[in-house]
Amino acid sequence: MVLIKSKDEIEKIRQAGKILKRVFERINPFVKEGITTEEIDQHTFQFICSEKAQAAFKGYKGYPASICISINEEIVHGIPSKRKLVPGDIVSLDIGINFNGYFADAALTLGIGKVSPAMKRLIEVTHDSLREAIRYALPYGHLGDISSAVQKFVEAYGFSVVRQFCGHGTGRFLHEQPEIPNFGVVGEGIKLYPGMVLAIEPMVNEGGEELEILDNGWTAVTKDRRPSAHFEHTVAITENGPEVLA
Ligand code: MF3
Ligand code: CO
Repeated sequence: MVLIKSKDEIEKIRQAGKILKRVFERINPFVKEGITTEEIDQHTFQFICSEKAQAAFKGYKGYPASICISINEEIVHGIPSKRKLVPGDIVSLDIGINFNGYFADAALTLGIGKVSPAMKRLIEVTHDSLREAIRYALPYGHLGDISSAVQKFVEAYGFSVVRQFCGHGTGRFLHEQPEIPNFGVVGEGIKLYPGMVLAIEPMVNEGGEELEILDNGWTAVTKDRRPSAHFEHTVAITENGPEVLA
């Protein structure tokens, strides 16, 4: 069942979104050559706590950290570790928070130092595919409009969308219905209504779509070990169109 949020609830998710935005702004300057991903996790946890919010991922199905940090061939759910960032890495940062009982979820991918033109392109296309998808988060449209927008955009550049992970509804719970695939057909899927809140999250591989899960049980990596990028926004569907909440 897809939960429809009231204006009051959307306002609470908007508050959570503002906090999440500040957390990202405070973390960004630390995401540089030489820092370990564990150190980034510690900063993230502190920034979330200082906002009187909770780290939504910590303990979720046993996930051990406040942030997912996925480097290069890692697609999503990278676990913070002693690994140090080096120039040329592309790093996806994915954070969810709970503030006063309402969730916001967002992700972005950054390059460390000078990254190759091909990696830059991958980041840019993934970013723009999300922007394109958000244009279709329209009342009385269909979920497939969003999914197909991502797929068409990404495939036009010769990249592939990951099929084994999806976006999702969010707000009262971190993960709600519906699942939002990054591939689909215009006009198909459930109808979209004002009050739906969607975490739309394209995961885009430079090479093939196939993935593997590492032995830690979490980290998804590309089977061909070519790089992958990830962006995510929490978006409300309103009578006036999409509103990006986080
Ligand atoms: N944004 C990712 C998702 O919605 C984060 C996973 S949360 C984790 O699936 F806690 F499972 F890591
Ligand atoms: Co998500």
